[in-house]
Amino acid sequence: MSDFLTLAIESSCDETSAAILNHQSVVALVTATQSVHEQYGGVVPELASRAHQSNIIPVVDAVLKEAQLTLPEMDLLCVTEGPGLMGSLHVGVSFMKAVAMSLKKPLVGVNHMHGHVLAHCIEGQYAEPIEFPFLCLTVSGGHTQIVWAKSPTELSVLAQTKDDAAGEAIDKAAKLLGLSYPGGPMVDKKAKEGNANAFQFSVPRIDDGLYSFSGLKTSLLYFLQAQIKQNPNFIEENLADLCASFQKVTMDYLLKNFFNWAKKMEVKNVAIAGGVSANSYLRDSFISKGKQLNMRTFVPRFDYCTDNAAMIGISGYHQFHHHYEARNIVPQPRMEF
Ligand code: KG4
Ligand code: ZN
Repeated sequence: MSDFLTLAIESSCDETSAAILNHQSVVALVTATQSVHEQYGGVVPELASRAHQSNIIPVVDAVLKEAQLTLPEMDLLCVTEGPGLMGSLHVGVSFMKAVAMSLKKPLVGVNHMHGHVLAHCIEGQYAEPIEFPFLCLTVSGGHTQIVWAKSPTELSVLAQTKDDAAGEAIDKAAKLLGLSYPGGPMVDKKAKEGNANAFQFSVPRIDDGLYSFSGLKTSLLYFLQAQIKQNPNFIEENLADLCASFQKVTMDYLLKNFFNWAKKMEVKNVAIAGGVSANSYLRDSFISKGKQLNMRTFVPRFDYCTDNAAMIGISGYHQFHHHYEARNIVPQPRMEF
């Protein structure tokens, strides 16, 4: 089979990422993480777009160098079109429009959330490739979705969150616990030293198969306020147990609803995706629950969980080969699934 090279860019939030794929295999992936946001405890949109501006050319140069390829050799260009931060999306989209125009190459605009699901199609991750259809739990900083993936170009959301996303809830909880941003990986790390059954938090109701996370975060807040009144050092003295307990409640809740759907639909293949799917407790529990129910479980490689351009490349590759129509790509901060 002859080569088919794709250059993809992801810049929807605070990672500037570039990838080169040959068909469905990743040749090179380079991601620049923006540490500037740490001091503010969250992503500052204006600073994110400025950092993308500084990073984008070095990141593309680095990915080409790693792949030992040049821009004119690319057959296809893909870029995240939305959802995300307007200024951040703008940098990636404008850059790729300029490349597409000057090289006269096709450009595909990709939905970031489709990218997370299709990250499973990147070759070389699994002993046996993922099979369609599959049910995917996508958990990121901005979204919590149960997605039915019928084929690479037929994806639909069956359920989502009514309020906060799972990653957002964990990041806010981490902030209450005095951990730095982004809190998810810090909670995961601290939880390893703690007892997950030390504290109980009220679990949100699963209404009509939909998630709700805002109550969980409030339950932690009230619990901490009551404890701190009695012992001002409560958080410091119990940090690992608090992380482990909060993580367990959140992840068990995510999995309970997801596997209710999976059982009801009698699916054979189940997957997790998005930044929160890097969580070690979620990964382990997902695999053991799936095995128990005789389902094939797919857990992506760490660098394909959090935001990366390889997932945008694979998604655009499938869109291009399914149906391609040249159109004006415009950043869409609130892009529909
Ligand atoms: O998919 P992603 O990289 O960006 C968005 O599209 O939002 O997800 C980022 C989210 C953040 O909330 C971050 O705290 C969370 O993923 N995250 C984790 C872990 N690694 C990243 N949450 C829990 N445990 C982790 N190990
Ligand atoms: Zn994401």
